[in-house]
Amino acid sequence: MKVTDAIIKRRTKRKYTNQRVSRDLLETLVELARFAPMGANLQPLKYAIIDGELSKKVFPLTKWSGYHPEDAPEDSEMPPCYIAILGDNEIKQNGQFETDAGTAGATICLAAEELGLSTCWLGAIKREEIKELLGLSEKYSLLYLIAVGYSEQKADYVDAKGDIKYFMNGDVLTVPKRTLDEILVEI
Ligand SMILES: Cc1cc2nc3c(=O)[nH]c(=O)nc-3n(C[C@H](O)[C@H](O)[C@H](O)COP(=O)(O)O)c2cc1C
Repeated sequence: MKVTDAIIKRRTKRKYTNQRVSRDLLETLVELARFAPMGANLQPLKYAIIDGELSKKVFPLTKWSGYHPEDAPEDSEMPPCYIAILGDNEIKQNGQFETDAGTAGATICLAAEELGLSTCWLGAIKREEIKELLGLSEKYSLLYLIAVGYSEQKADYVDAKGDIKYFMNGDVLTVPKRTLDEILVEI
């Protein structure tokens, strides 16, 4: 799959089948995140793979689909695993991990698309409770979780006409994207 196709085709999926993702594939996603661009090349991010029983305990500590609660996964549709994006506070002391987390998260989600996996980036998470569950020390800040799994959910985009809230069009989760005309500032 070409990168440009993955960029256009990747859509957030929130309902997963119960198929497990192999450890190899999950490690491949982390391996690919190594190559994301990082400010000053500090590479202050670390990653944890959350799988199996631990995943089931993480699920209630996540929040899904703020605009459209019907699209939140039922227990039977929860993701089988997550990749936690962590900031290493010993490498970077000012806590400014956001931009690096963005490049890493985008890399993981696009790579997953090529590998036939679906993802949902999760920011609405109970960070302190998840950190405790994972046994993470103060050395690490929990930045985001990326849910990873297999999904049969249909999702697509439309050109946004004002409202940017995602919605269901029949059984297709539909994500309005602002058009080139709207985002390109003529100077
Ligand atoms: C930083 C960030 C945080 C997000 N947090 C959540 C979240 O907590 N729960 C959720 O269901 N989706 C979350 N999303 C997914 C967005 O809702 C989704 O990317 C957006 O609606 C656009 O859809 P698309 O990914 O299909 O382009 C998050 C995405 C990003 C980039």
